[in-house]
Amino acid sequence: MNIIDGKLISAQVKEELREKVEDIKLKGGKIPHLAAVLIGDNGASETYVSSKIKSCEQIGFKSTLVRRDATTSEAEVLEIIGQLNQDEDVDGFIVQLPLPDHINVDKIIEAIDPKKDVDGFHPINIGRMAKGLPSYISATPFGVLELIKRYNIETAGKHCVVVGRSQIVGLPMSILMQRNTYPGNCTVTLVHSRTQNLPEICRQADILVAALGKPEFITAEMVKEGAVVIDVGLTRVVDASKKSGFALKGDVKFDEVAPKTSYITPVPGGVGLMTVAALMHNTLLASQGLVYGK
Ligand code: GUN
Repeated sequence: MNIIDGKLISAQVKEELREKVEDIKLKGGKIPHLAAVLIGDNGASETYVSSKIKSCEQIGFKSTLVRRDATTSEAEVLEIIGQLNQDEDVDGFIVQLPLPDHINVDKIIEAIDPKKDVDGFHPINIGRMAKGLPSYISATPFGVLELIKRYNIETAGKHCVVVGRSQIVGLPMSILMQRNTYPGNCTVTLVHSRTQNLPEICRQADILVAALGKPEFITAEMVKEGAVVIDVGLTRVVDASKKSGFALKGDVKFDEVAPKTSYITPVPGGVGLMTVAALMHNTLLASQGLVYGK
């Protein structure tokens, strides 16, 4: 069994980006600029956004945080998006999710200029990704692909089972793993809450991607001997023994599953850390016009 070290790989990716920015600066090029829109005071969102801003500083990107309280109207958020779309210095921006209930998420995402949609959430980017055209690939699936690549894990002809059909992870993951490229060329099965015989299908997976958001759902009897297990889950569960009062749990029962696997991502220290690195990568692409041209 090999542990896929997200901490190590994300640090490598960020270091490579930092070197590229240094080079851009030396040549007098455009410094990549990421903006983040944070509406309300969701604790997890605050943590994620501050780690995105901190990563920008570490890498040498410019960053802007646009913060508004939870009562901000949909129209006001659309107004902010309009300004960021127009701002020539901003290469890419994200609107941190979830948004307060009175705001229509789809309307917000569709208002983002696809050329600045470094989260890869806009239907145009999802459609282009599905067609294999240049697009921004959203951070979590991108992070998973990068881990697979950097560990030279074979994917062609393998059966990849993706558990969960979220727009942000499960759906794009299933599309990416079947593409005619590396990582890809898998035979993909997407299973979800209405799937019959889910454990049986998971047991057929050479590569199992767990992205359903249910702590420790995947148990040893659902995993084939020698499988690659990618755990995308990250749920806060109450744990009085922790200083913070909670522990982070993945979707995989790590202790019993790990010994059966050839490769496995831990939680924390696996996929989660890759997502910020992936967002930074997309921002650099945006600043250089490498997806849509400039
Ligand atoms: N909320 C949870 N994950 C994400 C993400 O990758 N991007 C944004 N914008 N919001 C999120």
